[in-house]
Amino acid sequence: MWRAVAESLYERLGERQAIFEIAHRFYAKVATDAVLLPLYPEQDLAGAEERLALFLVQYCGGPEEYQQRRGHPKLRLRHFEFAIGEAERAAWMSAMTQAVTETAPPPEAAAELIAALARTAGFLVNRGGLSLGTRGLPGA
Ligand code: HEM
Repeated sequence: MWRAVAESLYERLGERQAIFEIAHRFYAKVATDAVLLPLYPEQDLAGAEERLALFLVQYCGGPEEYQQRRGHPKLRLRHFEFAIGEAERAAWMSAMTQAVTETAPPPEAAAELIAALARTAGFLVNRGGLSLGTRGLPGA
């Protein structure tokens, strides 16, 4: 059916269930990642997984439950306590790219999500060099 309004990335990815699956697979990788795991001293990976999942729902154009629970994302501010250099950015993107690929969303939606996340991850680099200075999708 022809649609007058383009579907959001959220819809094209497979909505809440697919995005929660991505966050779940991502944190399963964090749990065994030598670069990323040390950033989680409290080992609250379940809480972190839920926060990331709800954020990604909103980031992709879905319901704004993250914002209702946690307030404005302020991602750069919230990441400042974690030393994120090139190694951490690359490890994060590697784990996330695998998580997205394993979840097998439509390839165009997967590519769009990964490209946006790569921009946001660059914007979150806060140690040892220039960040890319761009935020990915709006509201990050
Ligand atoms: C560049 C590499 C990154 C590293 C090393 C990193 C690391 C972390 C760590 C250690 C936390 C704390 C976990 C928690 O308790 O919630 C966190 C939180 C979070 N991260 Fe990242 N992150 C990165 C990139 C990203 C990107 C690209 C996004 C979004 C697209 C993102 C979204 C979030 C969100 C939403 C939270 C929870 C914030 C809150 O509500 O408190 N992160 N991240």
